[in-house]
Amino acid sequence: MTIEWSAEASEFHLRNDRISYVMRVLERGWLGHLYFGSALAGARSYAHLVPGEFFDFSNRVGAPISLEYPTGGSGDFRVPALAVELSDGSGVLDLRYSAHRIIPGKPAIPGLPSTYVEVGGEAETLEVTLADAVAQLEVKLLYTIYRDRPVVVRGARIVNTGKAPLILRCAMSASLDLPDSEWQLIALSGDWARERYVVRQEIRPGRQSVSSLRGASSSQHNPFIALARPATTEAAGEAIGVCLAYSGNFLAETEVESFGTARVRAGINPEGFSWLLEPGGEFATPEVVLAFSAAGLDELSQTYHDLLRERMARGSWRDKPRPIVINNWEATYFDFDEPKLLAIATAARKMGIEMFVLDDGWFGRRDDDFSSLGDWKVNTAKLPGGIESVARKVEALGMGFGIWIEPEMVSRRSDLFAEHPQWAIGIPSRPRTEHRNQYVLDMSRPEVVDHLFDALSAILGSAPISYVKWDMNRYITEPFSTSLPAWRQGEFFHRYILGVYALYDRLTKAFPGILFESCAGGGARFDAGMLAFAPQAWTSDDTDAVERLKIQWGTSMVYPLSSMAAHVSAVPNHQVGRMTPLQTRAAVAFFGAFGYELDPTKLSVEEIAEITQQVAFYKKWRELFQRGRFHRLVSPFEGDRNVVAWMTVADDACSAIVGHYNILNRPNSGPTRLKLRGLDPSASYRVSTWSAVAGDQDESTRPIVLGGDVLMAAGLVIDGERLSPSQGDFRARVYVLEST
Ligand code: DGJ
Repeated sequence: MTIEWSAEASEFHLRNDRISYVMRVLERGWLGHLYFGSALAGARSYAHLVPGEFFDFSNRVGAPISLEYPTGGSGDFRVPALAVELSDGSGVLDLRYSAHRIIPGKPAIPGLPSTYVEVGGEAETLEVTLADAVAQLEVKLLYTIYRDRPVVVRGARIVNTGKAPLILRCAMSASLDLPDSEWQLIALSGDWARERYVVRQEIRPGRQSVSSLRGASSSQHNPFIALARPATTEAAGEAIGVCLAYSGNFLAETEVESFGTARVRAGINPEGFSWLLEPGGEFATPEVVLAFSAAGLDELSQTYHDLLRERMARGSWRDKPRPIVINNWEATYFDFDEPKLLAIATAARKMGIEMFVLDDGWFGRRDDDFSSLGDWKVNTAKLPGGIESVARKVEALGMGFGIWIEPEMVSRRSDLFAEHPQWAIGIPSRPRTEHRNQYVLDMSRPEVVDHLFDALSAILGSAPISYVKWDMNRYITEPFSTSLPAWRQGEFFHRYILGVYALYDRLTKAFPGILFESCAGGGARFDAGMLAFAPQAWTSDDTDAVERLKIQWGTSMVYPLSSMAAHVSAVPNHQVGRMTPLQTRAAVAFFGAFGYELDPTKLSVEEIAEITQQVAFYKKWRELFQRGRFHRLVSPFEGDRNVVAWMTVADDACSAIVGHYNILNRPNSGPTRLKLRGLDPSASYRVSTWSAVAGDQDESTRPIVLGGDVLMAAGLVIDGERLSPSQGDFRARVYVLEST
């Protein structure tokens, strides 16, 4: 890995064995973009890649040049990376190179989540300073390249070097100008209970974007896009990933202009955003991880999985095996007391489950979702001995104990709202909109963050709590903070998320032994920024196995299996009413941080036996399910969508597990072949089918030994007639491969 600077050619070349990122200081001093892609040789100039240097929009000739951090108003009519309002009301900028430095490692971003380094020589950072002498403004562009990862992590810091305040109207984390627009845009979009579906479409002249204005990254769109060549598949072809480490209002956008070039930008959503920068003030953008793959979407995802798991997630749980959870939400909703909880925990423990998580309803007077958010004191009507009593009893069963919290919220019927109505977000002259019967606390106020830290620390310190599920069940309306002056209201959304990060930071530091799981009405804040504090997230409220195939497939485009909490729930499923076999529900949920979301006291003897086997199987292969290399094989978003398959492979390729799912059964179906990936072609694998269903392990499922080469080139034969006891719709098969 190197960052080369050639003073003669005025070129920067960030390179490792897998990628190169080349920039050049153009004759006018602008920082031009030359190349991002597969590794190029060092010590050479690539200036020829951008033959014309100047815009010449006056006579409408000449393709626009590629710039690293473009601004508007002086000839570049594409979307800008930076837009400001200066003290005279003008907004034109002309940013020119002024200095650069190369720093070992990677600096943190104050108040914001960021990737990091742990060992010397792991990464290097280039900081290029651009300046506008008239506006008296500096932009420091940061580029980190890791030695062993095909990523460039970018961000920007904007400094007011003048004597008058200025207003930032748009401050993107990165802008990337690509020389052609032969790309398709891949985004992860959906809604509650159908988060992160893969949407892939041509990029067309003009602008296409995904974004959030909801105060959270949202379930509607995810702060990640990829550009893939039309022919790019999972296994082959070029793809560029753009992953923003941010949990608030974001924008990720492409613009194709008339010469067919494409600009990509990502960062805080400029819509409704402004930031007053006083003289001497500095504004740091969130960071964006640009990744490149010449070998398809699979490799792009591996890059993100490794980076987010190893160098975004942090803390004591980063590398630890995640416990198998039983969560009482769908078992009881608000209707529970200590005996009921202990009965659930006891039954779960007998099946080998390791962590009991007490969900919503344990505090205040919360018997429904109309009250008590903000009153983080135990509901003694339900739990007379407090959290401590139930936690200690669960601990005595040999399980960990966790609780649900929703720190950012307040109910109208709560002591907190009665005491501090002004802490709820809202505009004094307007009514506040309630969603799920609750308001959002103004996390931009430091005193709110302080209060929550104290209240939650008291609870977390009062009992042996080793797991916290941090929920956020509504988006923000009437965005406004009574603590900010009129001219700073455009800062509200960003300050809100900075407050959330500050609280996360303080709580995770104060309770380093607790495993935090983020959640937002299901998976509405599943983003790279959250992973810096909570190494796993509740993937979706939709636990139906068929729906989860799509949700987990889409989520896996960026986020590692260890971050995806996936639970088996009861049937009929509470979200879609579907009946699926228990085997299938587990076969889907295995590929993530596994658990159960049902009442184990209501199970039949057969179901108890089956779950006991599922738990034992997951424990045996936990490392593979949580940290294996995940390969998507047959997509729920392409083809006839009736079959889905994926697999996870150990780093040393000695073992692998394949999940194969038939949505609807097809009569008289013949054998098919499923081409596997990631195996050692020279190894021989013992292939066995696994099932916890009594009677499924019949003669026809006896292990066979097959070469990694044939499994990848010809495929694993999936026999349509096998596994008779579980035939029917929604059938799943799990194959275990072990090298001999
Ligand atoms: C939404 C979450 O996604 C659910 O799992 C559950 O915790 C509820 N909130 C509780 O209100």
